[in-house]
Amino acid sequence: MSRETVFTTRSPAETRRLGRCLGELLQPGDVVLLAGPVGAGKTTFCQGVAAGLGVTADVTSPTFVLAAEYEGRIRLIHMDLYRFAAAEEGAPQAAGGALSLEEALEAAGWEGGLEDAAWLVEWPGDAGEAFSDVLQVRIQPAPLPRIDERTFHTRPTGPRGRDRLDEWVKRWLF
Ligand SMILES: Nc1ncnc2c1ncn2[C@@H]1O[C@H](COP(=O)(O)OP(=O)(O)OP(=O)(O)O)[C@@H](O)[C@H]1O
Ligand SMILES: [Mg+2]
Repeated sequence: MSRETVFTTRSPAETRRLGRCLGELLQPGDVVLLAGPVGAGKTTFCQGVAAGLGVTADVTSPTFVLAAEYEGRIRLIHMDLYRFAAAEEGAPQAAGGALSLEEALEAAGWEGGLEDAAWLVEWPGDAGEAFSDVLQVRIQPAPLPRIDERTFHTRPTGPRGRDRLDEWVKRWLF
């Protein structure tokens, strides 16, 4: 198991910059799983990633559409599996019932392959287990009163994720 890398941000703008640093280096087939409670900043982070990929369209939460597709330097698929997340993951209003990645993609009407896009998945739940080499990111709000602080606990699950994380850290720091 890889070591965890922790990034800290202290404003939504800083979270967008952190996302932008990652978006600048993502390649087709890369998968980023984004966990964290309601309001943690998952979508804010995704807006930064999209900006880093050169997406000019507005990025909003795809909770009710399951997946949104954007064109930038490469294609970006932004998924939100909240409605399928388990209550124990902190999704109290979720429908419950885990969804496999294939089922999620089918429900979203996706017909391409994994290598056709970079992937950002909010509330990945069990769907994340379908991937062997991803970047797992868990966003954690800081304790009160630090309401604008978030930590991003990041872990690659394979060599590809490790490469991306190394490059991401460099871009964030320099
Ligand atoms: N450091 C920070 N990073 C990101 N968001 C922050 C930060 N500080 C405060 N915020 C606020 O937290 C909220 C994050 O909302 P966002 O929609 O990105 O969360 P989310 O994790 O996608 O939630 P949901 O589970 O409902 O989709 C925004 O209102 C944002 O202004
Ligand atoms: Mg969201």
